[in-house]
Amino acid sequence: MDDALRALLDAGLAGTGPIVVMTGAGISAESGIPTFRGEEGYWTVGSEHYHPMEMATQEAYRRMPEEVWRWYLYRRSVCRKAQPNPAHLALVRLERALGDRFLLVTQNVDGLHLRAGNTEARTYQIHGNIDYLRCGDEPSSLRPVPLAIGEDWEAGSPFTEEARALLSCCDGGRFARPHVLWFDECYDEALFRFESSLRAASAAALLIVIGTSGATNLPMQVGAIVAERGAPMIVINQDPSPFSRFAERSARGAFLQGSAGEHLPPMVEHLVQHA
Ligand code: OAD
Repeated sequence: MDDALRALLDAGLAGTGPIVVMTGAGISAESGIPTFRGEEGYWTVGSEHYHPMEMATQEAYRRMPEEVWRWYLYRRSVCRKAQPNPAHLALVRLERALGDRFLLVTQNVDGLHLRAGNTEARTYQIHGNIDYLRCGDEPSSLRPVPLAIGEDWEAGSPFTEEARALLSCCDGGRFARPHVLWFDECYDEALFRFESSLRAASAAALLIVIGTSGATNLPMQVGAIVAERGAPMIVINQDPSPFSRFAERSARGAFLQGSAGEHLPPMVEHLVQHA
């Protein structure tokens, strides 16, 4: 690790605000989960019959709940088969070392950060979690997808009566919905920690951005706030992105091009040693 990077990490530790880590699909790529916009990405390949961006909408769910559920149950089975990788485990180590100074903002719905051991209290899942469902927008209805649904849903598996019953709301025949943020929906605080994420950006002593292309609104706001404040920012990404440009334009920024598994563990080692 070079001196400039070490200095940024030390500046983060010396500050008073949280050390905020913001992740996207790239951190789970090494666990075998497709990203969204890569060649094999979900938004590129899609479901059997529909364009993927059409599927991830409230409008599609209203029109064809079973088709939308089948697609999410298939994606969920991909996530359940995947295991946390060294980058996820490094973030668990970092949370244990930093305690309340640690905050994780993740766009990933795969649940791998929590399965690795990061705590729900310090993990803002700003796009939801594919292992959960809810009835409408009511936060109190949030609950895990029933175990009996199974974790080996193949693409194109037919919908059974049993699955239909397990995925319905307690108040009758209505379908519960996957707990994910769709393209025709807005961020909010109760379900997606919108204001809390912006507050974290305003106070962050260091922002580490990992594996995201910068295509969504709240992460871009978080990056822009930190860049505007001139707070230390480190970006780990396979390809250049709007975040890497923020980092490269900042006197207190660094862009590490490459994989999360390669770049994150040594940085965490340094932070843990000096926390
Ligand atoms: P994308 O698929 O848009 O971007 C993934 C990024 O990760 C790319 O910039 C890759 O270069 C990078 N990458 C790939 N493998 C990597 C690795 N091993 N290490 C480091 N970087 C790597 O995924 P996101 O930015 O996460 O939202 O997409 C953001 C949101 O868009 C998703 O949460 C989803 C989607 O629409 C919703 O569903 C609401």
